[in-house]
Amino acid sequence: MEIEISSCKHLVYVNEIQQEMYDSAQRRGTGIAKRSIEYLSKKISEGNAIVATENNKWVGFCYIETWSHGCFVANSGLIVSPNFRNRGVATLIKNEVFQLSREKYPEAKIFGLTTGLAVMKINSDLGYKPVIYSELTQDEEFWSGCKNCVNYEILMKKDRKNCLCTAMLFIPENTTKNNIADKQLEIK
Ligand SMILES: CC(C)(COP(=O)(O)OP(=O)(O)OC[C@H]1O[C@@H](n2cnc3c(N)ncnc32)[C@H](O)[C@@H]1OP(=O)(O)O)[C@@H](O)C(=O)NCCC(=O)NCCS
Repeated sequence: MEIEISSCKHLVYVNEIQQEMYDSAQRRGTGIAKRSIEYLSKKISEGNAIVATENNKWVGFCYIETWSHGCFVANSGLIVSPNFRNRGVATLIKNEVFQLSREKYPEAKIFGLTTGLAVMKINSDLGYKPVIYSELTQDEEFWSGCKNCVNYEILMKKDRKNCLCTAMLFIPENTTKNNIADKQLEIK
């Protein structure tokens, strides 16, 4: 199996990826921030995604998004082709997309919203911690992605403070150190 940073050669898989994202969400009865073919194609051609393939067949996918002017990064749209699940593919893809995010945006906080146990396990192994939504980006564009979700009404009723998804956040060590230093200065 090959797990690579995306490039134009992976554009041939974009329809299959989008369709599987939609079908999986339907099967789970959960919502997703639906992404257009154009949006996913841009992520792929700009090298902002990880694609897994085997013998020229698509196996898995995940992409990078930035919010709040690059202060926050999300590794979104994780999807593994049903025939390849439960073999550790998502773990490998998330590791790669996480490393790529850290290289491209070393200062950024990395976050995710999920209802899935598999993703929670992978994220916590990578050092993410569960948080409340106010710790995440407040970028309007990010939250408007939730409009396509079946649970959007719940999110709005709760003033965007919580919903059915668990929020998880990775804070780079430097940021933590800086925050502590800032707090110590404030106290002094
Ligand atoms: C979620 C998904 C990406 C997992 O892919 P995968 O390649 O099967 O995952 P992995 O084999 O790497 O498993 C990672 C961990 O999650 C566990 N896991 C996998 N699927 C699981 C499930 N459905 N329920 C509970 N745990 C699960 C595995 O046992 C493993 O745990 P371990 O490290 O303790 O052994 C895949 O099922 C999928 O594409 N689902 C549809 C889309 C989706 O839900 N995306 C996530 C949106 S946030």
